[in-house]
Amino acid sequence: MLGDFVYSNPTRLYFGENALTGLNQELPNYGKNILLTYGGGSVKKSGLYDQIVKILKDNGKNIIDLPGVMANPTVEKLYEGCKLAKENNVDLILAVGGGSVCDYSKAVSVSAYCDEDPWDKYFLRMEDVNNKIIPVGCVLTMVGTGSEMNGGSVITNHAQKLKIGHVFGDNVFPKFSILNPVYTFTVPKYQMVAGFFDIMSHIMEQYFSGTDDNTSDYIAEGLMKSLIASSKIAVKNPEDYEARSNIMWTATWALNTLIAKGKTTDWEVHMIGQAVGAITNATHGMTLAAVSLAYYRKIMNYGMKKFARFAVNVWGVNPAGKSDSQLADEGLKALEAWMKEIGVVMSLKELGVNENMYDSILDGTFLLEGGYKKLTREEVLDILKASM
Ligand code: NZQ
Ligand code: ZN
Repeated sequence: MLGDFVYSNPTRLYFGENALTGLNQELPNYGKNILLTYGGGSVKKSGLYDQIVKILKDNGKNIIDLPGVMANPTVEKLYEGCKLAKENNVDLILAVGGGSVCDYSKAVSVSAYCDEDPWDKYFLRMEDVNNKIIPVGCVLTMVGTGSEMNGGSVITNHAQKLKIGHVFGDNVFPKFSILNPVYTFTVPKYQMVAGFFDIMSHIMEQYFSGTDDNTSDYIAEGLMKSLIASSKIAVKNPEDYEARSNIMWTATWALNTLIAKGKTTDWEVHMIGQAVGAITNATHGMTLAAVSLAYYRKIMNYGMKKFARFAVNVWGVNPAGKSDSQLADEGLKALEAWMKEIGVVMSLKELGVNENMYDSILDGTFLLEGGYKKLTREEVLDILKASM
């Protein structure tokens, strides 16, 4: 049964090889001052930066350059962006990069005119925005997070050993996003497959919850099947446009709020993954890969029917003569085989985690109630140990 919900998504998408021309349609809607945010240099190397600067200048814009947005953006970098945005009276933040740049830009957009410390207000206290919001547009270069069409923004505070995401309302979603699959061809393999697993994890987090029959779960199954098929092609040939375009579109739908509509969701893997990320600064998708199998094996008995359905509907396991528990087990084995095939990390050790970090990771793990079993701190410790 679908519960009651409101659905709207304000982000306008421009998809395909010519998507960048969409900038010419969007830019006249905003004032002169554009804060151009990007990461550590991939956009300069690829030539995308120069193309965008030309389009901005042709549209008469004044560019305020903000490079160096790191993977897993930090609170210190957020403060720097807020200062720059306010001093320059910025009219639009144009994010060019992956989820980190996009998340970061949303954080600056709500924080520049915030009277309080935005880390405390938005990330520790999870309060709503009640000040001016600077609009954000996004040119996506790395696929996985869904940040291009959602209100999520994840910021890391290394001093406090916390990595926290705030899911803002649709007034904070990017106003537009440019999705050209060709931009993703240059993403290094490690980042690419981490992104693939991130997509899978987003879908599983929303799928593995509840026992009802609802349309959202069927959409989730379709998205997982498309991702699995295309990811196997993309790891062999990263420049396969068909596969990369399917993956880009799947990633957007995996986390633009649609498949959570009318149902409960889990998100505990992300809570553990983020806590690992806060301590190790590891790549987001890999933190999820490292703990997922141990997590799902731990909770499988509490949601057995859904795990059996996952095996049959997503992985094509033949149900004939098998119990739910056998099917559930085979489904997780199929997930494991796919993870190995695409080449994600399979253990926390590979991310530099050691036993001395357990307490900090446990302190930073929020325990949620939406999944099949609310974990205890001891159970999270079991999962960390089993993930080593
Ligand atoms: O900094 P540059 O030089 O651009 O290099 C980046 C970065 O090192 C590189 N890259 C990106 N596009 C490239 C490229 N390299 C070559 N060619 C390209 N076309 O890839 C590296 C990783 O980029 P990043 O943006 O960090 O990756 P991702 O998109 O996975 O974003 C991760 C962040 O998003 C958060 C994560 O926690 C993490 O902080 N998330 C955001 C969510 C949301 N908004 O809803 C949900 C997710 O669950 C996630 O938590
Ligand atoms: Zn994620």
